[in-house]
Amino acid sequence: MAAGEGAIEIEVDLPGGGVLAGMAEVVREGLSSPFKELPPKFFYDERGSALFERITEQPEYYPTRCERRILDRRAGEIVRSARPRTLIELGSGAAAKSRVLLDAMRDAGTLERFVPVDIAEDITRRVAAELVGEYPGLAVEGIVCDYETHLERIPRPEGALIAFLGSTIGNFRPTARRSFLARIATLMYPEDRFLLGTDLVKDPARLEAAYDDAAGVTAEFNKNVLGVLNRELDADFDLDGFEHVAFWDADNEWIDMRLRALAEQYVDLRALGMRVHFARNEEMRTEISAKFTRERIEAGYADAGLELLEWWTDEEGLYALSLARPAAGSESG
Ligand code: AVJ
Repeated sequence: MAAGEGAIEIEVDLPGGGVLAGMAEVVREGLSSPFKELPPKFFYDERGSALFERITEQPEYYPTRCERRILDRRAGEIVRSARPRTLIELGSGAAAKSRVLLDAMRDAGTLERFVPVDIAEDITRRVAAELVGEYPGLAVEGIVCDYETHLERIPRPEGALIAFLGSTIGNFRPTARRSFLARIATLMYPEDRFLLGTDLVKDPARLEAAYDDAAGVTAEFNKNVLGVLNRELDADFDLDGFEHVAFWDADNEWIDMRLRALAEQYVDLRALGMRVHFARNEEMRTEISAKFTRERIEAGYADAGLELLEWWTDEEGLYALSLARPAAGSESG
C-alpha cells in the first residue's frame, strides 16, 4: 500500500437471512406469549429506516438533534480525553455522527482507523468507500453483523474509542443492558474509552410527545413492523386494524410502545403455520426505550466494570453523552 493511501476491509458475519435471521423463532415466541411482544430490530427494513429518519426530523423528537449538538460541541474534548487512534462505532449506519468524531481525531493528529459495525452491508460498504476518500491514509475495517451477538468478533486494536450512540441502549432490557456493558468492559484495554449516548428522564408529557408526534410518523413507523411480518413471514396483518400507543412507564423509567388491536381479529402467519388471536383492545409491545439519569448511568457503569469519566448534556439537559474507561483494577485486553 502506498503511503497515505487508505485501505478497506469488510467482514460479513451474518447468518443466512441477514437482519431477518432467526426472525421466525423470535416472532413465534413473541406472539405465543399471553402478553404479545415483538423485538424492535424488525422495524428497520428500508421503509422503516426511512420512517425513522423522518422521526428524527419531527419537532417533538429531540434526541437526535440534542445528541448531534453535544457531539459538535464536545468532539474536541472527547478526543483530547480519549486520544484514540481507532474509532469503533456500534451501529454506524450512514456514519453522520462518526464523521464528527473522525474530524476531531484527524485534527488532533491521532486518526488511523475506523471500524464501522452495522447490520446493513450495502451502507457499510458505501460508507467505507466514501471515508477512505475523505480521510487520507484512513484504514477502514468494517464488520457487518448483529453487534449484540458478535461483539467479541469486532477487531479492537489498542487505543480505541468505542462509540454506541443514538440511545439505542435504551432498547435493551435491564439484564441485557448490564451484560452488554460488561462485555464491552471486558473487551477494553486500559487506555480505551467508551462513548455512550443516552436519552434522559424528563417531563412525561415531553417524552410521550417524542414517541407520538402530531404528524403521525412514529405511528406509521410502529405499524410498519406489521408490514415487515406480512412480507417476510407471509402474514396478513391489517395495518389499519391496529393503533399506535406510547406511554411513559414511571416505575421502569421507559417509554413503552405498543400496537393496540382495534377489533377482535385473527392473523395468519403462513410461513410459521400459525394463527394468532387478538382480542379487541389487546396490546402488543413493539419497543421499550429506557431513559436514564446520571446516577443510574454511573451505577450501571460501576456494575459493569466501567468508570464514568465525563458527562456532557445539551443546554436543556434532555440528553447526555458520557465517556467511560475500564474501572481501575479490572484487567483485560
Ligand atoms: C433509534 C432506538 C434510539 O428509542 O428513540 C424512535 C427508536 N422508536 N421513535 C428510540 C424510536 C420510536 C429510537 N432509537
